[in-house]
Formats: sequence, C-alpha cells, structure tokens
Amino acid sequence: MLMRLTRRELLKAGMATGASLLLPAIDLRAQSSGLIQKKIPSSGESLPAIGLGTARRWESITTDAERAPLRDTLREFKAVGATVIDSSPTYGTAEAIVGELVSELKVRDGLFLATKVSISGKEAGVKQIEASFKRLRTPKIDLIAVHNLRDTHTHLATLRDLRRVGRIRYIGITTSFPNQYADFERTMKAEKLDFIQVDYALDNRTAGERILPLAAERSMAVMINLPFGRGRLFNAVQGKQLPEWAAEFDCKTWAQFFLKYIVSHPAVTCAVPGMAKAEYVRDNIGAAHGRLPDAAMRRRMENFIDGV
Ligand SMILES: NC(=O)c1ccc[n+]([C@@H]2O[C@H](COP(=O)([O-])OP(=O)(O)OC[C@H]3O[C@@H](n4cnc5c(N)ncnc54)[C@H](OP(=O)(O)O)[C@@H]3O)[C@@H](O)[C@H]2O)c1
Repeated sequence: MLMRLTRRELLKAGMATGASLLLPAIDLRAQSSGLIQKKIPSSGESLPAIGLGTARRWESITTDAERAPLRDTLREFKAVGATVIDSSPTYGTAEAIVGELVSELKVRDGLFLATKVSISGKEAGVKQIEASFKRLRTPKIDLIAVHNLRDTHTHLATLRDLRRVGRIRYIGITTSFPNQYADFERTMKAEKLDFIQVDYALDNRTAGERILPLAAERSMAVMINLPFGRGRLFNAVQGKQLPEWAAEFDCKTWAQFFLKYIVSHPAVTCAVPGMAKAEYVRDNIGAAHGRLPDAAMRRRMENFIDGV
C-alpha cells in the first residue's frame, strides 16, 4: 500500500522525513482512499466530493449517549479520508460538538471546517464569528459563508479582513430558499467569492438551471446542501428496487444514487449530506468512489425520479 502513495502524500503524512515514528496511527486508508476529489477554483486545492452536514442531528446533544454515535460518525468520516464538515452557529449544539469531538479524537489536521455567519450587524457578526472559533476549538476556520444572505455586504467585508490575516481561508454565501435565488445570483455576479452553497438534489434541480452554471463561469466552488431533500428522496423510492443500470456507474444504494447525481455535475465541488451514523458515512462516501454518471445517464436518472 505504501508503494502507491505519491511523494506529496508521503510528505503530508510525515513519512518522507522519517517523522512517521512520531505520529499517532497514520491512517493508510485515508492516505490511499482514492476518493473522487474536486478543485476549489480560487486556489486549486482539492476536496473530497462528499462531506458532512451537521444541521438537525447534531443540534440538540446533551448526553454522552447522544454524543457516542456522532463520535463514531466523525471517526469513520476521518478514517475513510473525507474532510469537509459544514456547520453553523445557528445549529444549536452542532459547532460545539464538532469542536469537542475533533479535539477529543485529535483529527483537526486535514479536516476542512466550514461554518457560517448568521446574524445582522457588523459587531454582532464579529462576535458570532469569534464564538465559532471558540466552539470549533481551532485558530483557523477553512470557510465561513454568509448564511442565507443575511446582511451579506456587511459580513463579506469582515470575512475578507479575516481571510487577509489568515484566520479563515475561504469566504462564501449560502441559501436553500428558491425565493432568494435572484438575490443570490446578483450577489454572485457582484462579488468575488471562493464558495457558494445551495440546495440541489435529484428531485430539486432548479439551482442547476442558472446558479450552478454561473458558479462555473465565476470560478466559484459549489457546496450542495439538502442533497436528499432531508428525507424526501428516500421516501420517494421507498419499497423500490435500485435500477440495474445504476451498476453502470458503480452505484450500490439509493443514497449513492442521489449523491452521484449531484457530484457528477461539473460545477459541483462537494455535497454535505447530514449524517449522524457511521453506517451513513460508509454508505454515502461510496458516492465518492468509482465511476460517475455522464450527461446521458444523468438525464436517465432525472426521468426515473420524475416517474416515481
Ligand atoms: N442555507 C444553508 O446554509 C443550509 C440549509 C440547509 C442545510 N444546510 C447544510 O446542508 C446539510 C445537509 O442538509 P440536511 O442535513 O438538512 O438534509 P439532507 O442531507 O438532505 O438529509 C439528511 C438526512 O438524510 C438521511 N440520511 C443521510 N444519509 C443516509 C443514508 N446513507 N441512508 C439513509 N438515510 C440517510 C438522514 O436522516 P435520519 O437522520 O432521519 O436517518 C439525514 O438526517 C445540513 O446538515 C447543513 O450542514 C445548509
């Protein structure tokens, strides 16, 4: 397995410098995971195409029994070589639990932590962002995006300052509301952003009409929220067999069917399905392996879901 690691991977793992003996258990599965990666246009950095969303299931955690499956989820997530975790200060306990478990498992290195600013006013925004650094227990947050276009211009100025001094690496905006799309597109045209985050799913393809092409044109990375429409897509196919032709793009489950549709869009960088179970990680990360559907196959998938 070691023979297949590139020099860059070896250096990253500390092996080429003989530092490997000092490192706690390097995960060779992660080093050679072969996950499908997509590039962030503004930097050229690659990210695994499947990440982790923390809305809802990470929001109301108070007991050790509730924490345990999330610890397993994060451990598995890191072990399979995934990196992108999406959170928000508005997701109850989510940021704090991410920070706590990342620190407990000592897995900050190599993770890509994304959160949001979600409040009105400059000072309130700065305060909220500082609290995110504390809750996530990190001196550097990889991406902060303005949540649902709330006071966008005010916060983008703050975020650019933070990026300039190296406390954050990327800035962006998010939405999951079609009635914000027009404003979202205007903002994408007017601002230079590293990332956008938008809702897109096999049965919710509106963002594919203008927002995703615009992101490609404006060289913005795209993170997809609500990739399953919460439970909606699973409900739509309940009791139905996965079509045999799904094997043509190495798809074994419904979750992979839905996610492979998303990450095969050329403008999409990654999807962040909500996950609070290790088994979901194993399943969903399968969408970042093997072949992806081509344009004709993507149309077939659309026709399929439109017909159920
Ligand atoms: N405007 C914004 O910025 C915005 C808005 C919405 C969401 N987001 C982000 O996007 C993320 C994703 O959205 P979401 O979590 O609301 O919805 P989602 O990803 O569309 O659906 C998540 C749900 O799908 C089910 N699921 C996940 N993997 C599965 C699998 N392999 N097999 C069967 N069921 C599976 C789980 O349901 P159960 O837990 O019930 O089993 C999970 O809670 C959020 O967590 C958040 O980080 C951002």
